[in-house]
Amino acid sequence: MIRTRTSGLVILAAVMAACFIAFAASEDAAVPYPQGYRRWAHLHSTLIGPKSNVFDKRPCEKPCTGGIFHFYANEKAMEGFRTGKFADGSIIADEVLETMSKDNGSGSEGPRRGVGVMVKDSQRYSATGGWGYGSFKGDSQVEELSGQEKKACFQCHVSRKDHDYVFTEYRER
Ligand code: HEC
Repeated sequence: MIRTRTSGLVILAAVMAACFIAFAASEDAAVPYPQGYRRWAHLHSTLIGPKSNVFDKRPCEKPCTGGIFHFYANEKAMEGFRTGKFADGSIIADEVLETMSKDNGSGSEGPRRGVGVMVKDSQRYSATGGWGYGSFKGDSQVEELSGQEKKACFQCHVSRKDHDYVFTEYRER
């Protein structure tokens, strides 16, 4: 009698553990805000200006397609760019700023529209290639992508599987 009860409890515990692992590795596992990313290494910048056919107006939709994009990497991610293999703890931030363009063709950066992020944790984000995808609107630090949206990020980044899902190629000079 006691033996049966014990094995029942063991099975229940195993099922709960399995559920927890499944949840932790699910597509909607939350992604932390990249605190202090503006002090990290600047990788490169991209401009999607008003004349681009993918330029979108305010308010920013997910993912934002118009603006000035600045890309930053923390120390671990910089090591990844050097070795081609990104260790757990690597973070790449993709900041979007408004473009303030003038009629004469010159322009400058405006307010922050938001920041996208990729965080490497091979266990937690195993459902999306080991990278967690997140997005923060404006100055918010609350991550807001649904599991479906994270999956859409991954489905495009998957074309860079041979580069550990990262598009950016770091240039030393
Ligand atoms: C349609 C394809 C596509 C989708 C969808 C997409 N990305 Fe990207 N992502 C790119 C490309 C291309 C780059 C390189 C952009 C550049 O160099 O300016 C990039 C770059 C990045 C980077 C910098 C690291 C790298 O791979 O170069 C981050 C972080 C990022 N994306 C996060 C996201 C997040 C978060 C989402 C979902 C909200 C997302 N991406 C959806 C194509 C995509």
